[in-house]
Amino acid sequence: MPIITIANQKGGVGKTTLATNLAVVLANKGSVVLVDADDQQSAVKWNDRRSENKIPTEHHTGDLKKALLSLQKKYDYVVLDVAGRDSIEYRSALQVADKLIVPTQPSQSDFDCIPFVFQMYNTYLEENPKLKPYLVINKAPANTKSTEVAEAVAVLKDIPDFKILNTIIRDRKQWRDASANGLSVAEMGSSKAKDELNSFILEIL
Ligand SMILES: Nc1ncnc2c1ncn2[C@@H]1O[C@H](COP(=O)(O)OP(=O)(O)O)[C@@H](O)[C@H]1O
Ligand SMILES: [Mg+2]
Repeated sequence: MPIITIANQKGGVGKTTLATNLAVVLANKGSVVLVDADDQQSAVKWNDRRSENKIPTEHHTGDLKKALLSLQKKYDYVVLDVAGRDSIEYRSALQVADKLIVPTQPSQSDFDCIPFVFQMYNTYLEENPKLKPYLVINKAPANTKSTEVAEAVAVLKDIPDFKILNTIIRDRKQWRDASANGLSVAEMGSSKAKDELNSFILEIL
């Protein structure tokens, strides 16, 4: 079953938020391990804040290939959260992962990082041709009249190979509250954030 890597050389784009939320929903479909490869261990800390239904969460550093392939045999889904920079963890993950999910905010400084993300993906494509890359716009303005999303899609659509998700994840308090409380928005009652999470997951599985 898939190794899903959530990555971007940029910090603060929502990697850990999407990884933790994804892990909770996948735990209802099968067994899940959340691999936290960031020294800051935000995913580990999020799991520590959970009072129940903890997600098996492991912190790994260095070359992850062996660890990921061995976890893949044990669990139905492996969800990996890496640091927001170039790292050995990120590079080794790209050599064995099935999916690469890249969250990006609709802002110029985030777009400036995307060519580096593409370059990184492209470096390992020959070695790992099964890797499917996706871009998801996160923290878009909640005001749907804003033109920022359309502008972002116009910039991102020229990135070869990457599928831009139709799901737009907007800046909503529920996402922050979920992180703060060791939850997924899926566990917090109905909300637009929950709808966004479900539609995000449908598009990447
Ligand atoms: N869609 C969203 N709406 C509101 N806040 C968000 C959203 N996505 C992420 N955040 C918040 O943004 C901050 C950075 O997110 P995080 O997932 O830690 O990013 P990264 O792991 O890429 O550094 C956190 O405080 C998180 O709660
Ligand atoms: Mg993080």
